[in-house]
Amino acid sequence: MYKQIGVITGGGDAPGLNAVIRSVVRTAIKEFGMKVTGIEDSFEGLLGETQTMKLTTRAVSGILPRGGTMLGTRNTGGFCCFVEDKVVFPEETIKEAIENLRKLEIEALVVIGGDGTLAIAQEFYKRGIPVIGVPKTIDNDLAATELTFGFMTAIDIATEALDRLHTTAASHDRVMILEVMGRHTGWIALHAGLAGSADVILIPEIPFSFESMVQKVRAREKSGSRFTNIVVAEGAKEVGKSEIYQDFGDIKSAPRLGGIGDYVRHKVEEMTGKESRCVVLGHLQRGGSPNAFDRMLGTNFGACAVRALANGQVGKMVALQAGYVVNVPLSEAIANVKTVPVNGQLVRTARDIGISFAAPKEAKL
Ligand code: F6P
Repeated sequence: MYKQIGVITGGGDAPGLNAVIRSVVRTAIKEFGMKVTGIEDSFEGLLGETQTMKLTTRAVSGILPRGGTMLGTRNTGGFCCFVEDKVVFPEETIKEAIENLRKLEIEALVVIGGDGTLAIAQEFYKRGIPVIGVPKTIDNDLAATELTFGFMTAIDIATEALDRLHTTAASHDRVMILEVMGRHTGWIALHAGLAGSADVILIPEIPFSFESMVQKVRAREKSGSRFTNIVVAEGAKEVGKSEIYQDFGDIKSAPRLGGIGDYVRHKVEEMTGKESRCVVLGHLQRGGSPNAFDRMLGTNFGACAVRALANGQVGKMVALQAGYVVNVPLSEAIANVKTVPVNGQLVRTARDIGISFAAPKEAKL
């Protein structure tokens, strides 16, 4: 049994991170008599003088409903860099961190993060550090798990935004566009679009055409609804075009998406003559208190992660499959992005109830 384990939170924050930390600490102390040390600011806390904190039951008291992460996080840093679209893990940096782990007498790590953070965790594991991953991202795009924590809270926030846009759209007979997060996938847009009664959902998995979108706006007008609500994932793209970026990134940071909502607003206004407005929901989807589901899922993931470590299940990630938390190889979790199945049940349901994805073929229907 490990005497002391470390906990790290990495990548963009997500509601429920503190729920996982609390559960890891309580399970490790109460059930297994381990000590827990929090590594601050993602893996960066393992460099130089090191930045860590002792995590006692008292230290994590009251954090369950709190947003963000008490340990701090970093999206970028010295542990991976981007060279010509490829992710590279600098050997010297990882070596220094592993030496510091040994000095701190931390024998195993619980790493809470998305694909980037878990890819770094996998590098530690390959070099002999026992690691267990916990899947985090509001985008819900991690393979091998049906859900990541943070996603359900993000959907709640996006749904509330759509509800609010609905009444103002209807009052002014406008086209309202809500841009939500979702770098490579449309999970947030699809779920919130269904829950918030969007008329058009634009997702990266289904490239859209303006002809098809305008046809939907016109069809609604004909049927007496003079407003249209559109939800667009930040990574959505027009047929034959690429995503829209705010920033192309550099060696230390990934490219930053953003701007598709305003592009859609401009084109729809131009093509229909209807007044249109765009709202970018941005980091409001990530900040603040987790909903009940994410508190529960984060708590279960945290406890299961410690049990997995104690049972020698390392180089793995806890994952939700068919309602149960299981352990899957880290390599499986980071191999692919989990995209929305374009012929899946939810997309079909959306189409059946009259929601358009503005696919070019829909325009010909
Ligand atoms: O990966 C989660 C995510 O929320 C993406 O949807 C989004 O593109 C990105 O993080 C934004 O990250 P940052 O905090 O660097 O702006």
